[in-house]
Amino acid sequence: MDNLLNSEQIEKLDVENVMGTYARQPIVFVRGEGSCLWDSNGNEYLDFLSGISVVQVGHCHPKVAEAIANQAKTLMHVSNLFHNPLQARLAARLNALARMDKVFFCNSGAEANECALKIARKWGKKKRGLDCFEIITFQGSFHGRTMGTVTATAQSKYQTPFEPLVPGFIYSPLNDLAALDELITEQTCAVMIEPIQGESGVKPASPEFLQGIQALCTEAEVLLILDEVQCGMGRTGRFLASQRAGITGDIVTLAKGIADGFPMGACLARGDAANVLVPGDHGSTFAGQPLACAAAMATLDVLEEEHLLENAITIGNYLKEHLQVIQRDYTGHITEIRGYGLMIGIELAKNNARQLVQELLHAGVVANAVGESIIRLLPPLNITTADCDQFLKAFQMVLAQ
Ligand SMILES: Cc1ncc(COP(=O)(O)O)c(C=O)c1O
Repeated sequence: MDNLLNSEQIEKLDVENVMGTYARQPIVFVRGEGSCLWDSNGNEYLDFLSGISVVQVGHCHPKVAEAIANQAKTLMHVSNLFHNPLQARLAARLNALARMDKVFFCNSGAEANECALKIARKWGKKKRGLDCFEIITFQGSFHGRTMGTVTATAQSKYQTPFEPLVPGFIYSPLNDLAALDELITEQTCAVMIEPIQGESGVKPASPEFLQGIQALCTEAEVLLILDEVQCGMGRTGRFLASQRAGITGDIVTLAKGIADGFPMGACLARGDAANVLVPGDHGSTFAGQPLACAAAMATLDVLEEEHLLENAITIGNYLKEHLQVIQRDYTGHITEIRGYGLMIGIELAKNNARQLVQELLHAGVVANAVGESIIRLLPPLNITTADCDQFLKAFQMVLAQ
């Protein structure tokens, strides 16, 4: 119960006053702790979605909450026209983890990608002239909802209502190096890829494909942009999912889990790409403010102190192994279990992902359906085997039904 309103009244107020951009469940979450959420009626849920890969170290982690509270009492905002000690320290830390040279801070994944696109365009024009502005992305990708990033997102369902799109984007099939090779020309300034496509159903780019792209980009002198907004920040057991393939792009974008739920995005670049933007080229009022930086620093501390990258691998393997047992036991229901660490996709034989996710919710588990036939699991990185057992029991129950 909210202070004054019950859950039905909150839902009504929400529907009447907030733009209908989300198909919301009739649930009002009011509290979170670790991998648990509580609704306004006091019901407890196991969160296997963590926002959508956002609450990386669990809901309201005490260290993150304390860092935000302390910073809120010290200095919440300072204009980017001045130096900010937390921003500088956070940038150095992220650069070391991602093997990059410089960071532009922003407030979301779309903004981080927008920055990457602007760097690529400016870099391309300088490198090969005004015609070098094309950016290649991959079919099924998701890069955000601003006009630039929705154009980079090669899925017509996100694009059609907002046409005409931004010129200069070309789409290539995922995991097809020959097709990409054909598309790269003198006009290409960048190739942009999610190492694991999240929104289209946890679809990994193969390590060979990622290595091949890096080789093609190096040979053709084209920037490689890695969108790690969903799969980065330790989710797959490496700081960046692309590190699994041993590659380092020219630009890496982060957001979602970077500050455990506090809004922040980051566009990191190395080499020439790191020095393309100069004063006046780009900016954002709220970017890298002390509060967000304090939350991100504490999130990184927790990732390290609690060995959560290792946990993502150990628990991810545990979860996958047990899901494979369920796959064998319930023959014909599950066609594939894929992903790395704690980014797992369960492909179903039937188009019943939404129904199963709904039933999981009734059983007290938050998961997510991407499309009609894929269930996506993105739990906090500090979940335990006990959390997994609870999820597996609920999943088995809804499959049996
Ligand atoms: C890979 C990827 N890139 C970019 C975005 C956009 O991030 P945001 O919603 O923070 O703008 C998302 C969001 O789902 C994403 O998964």
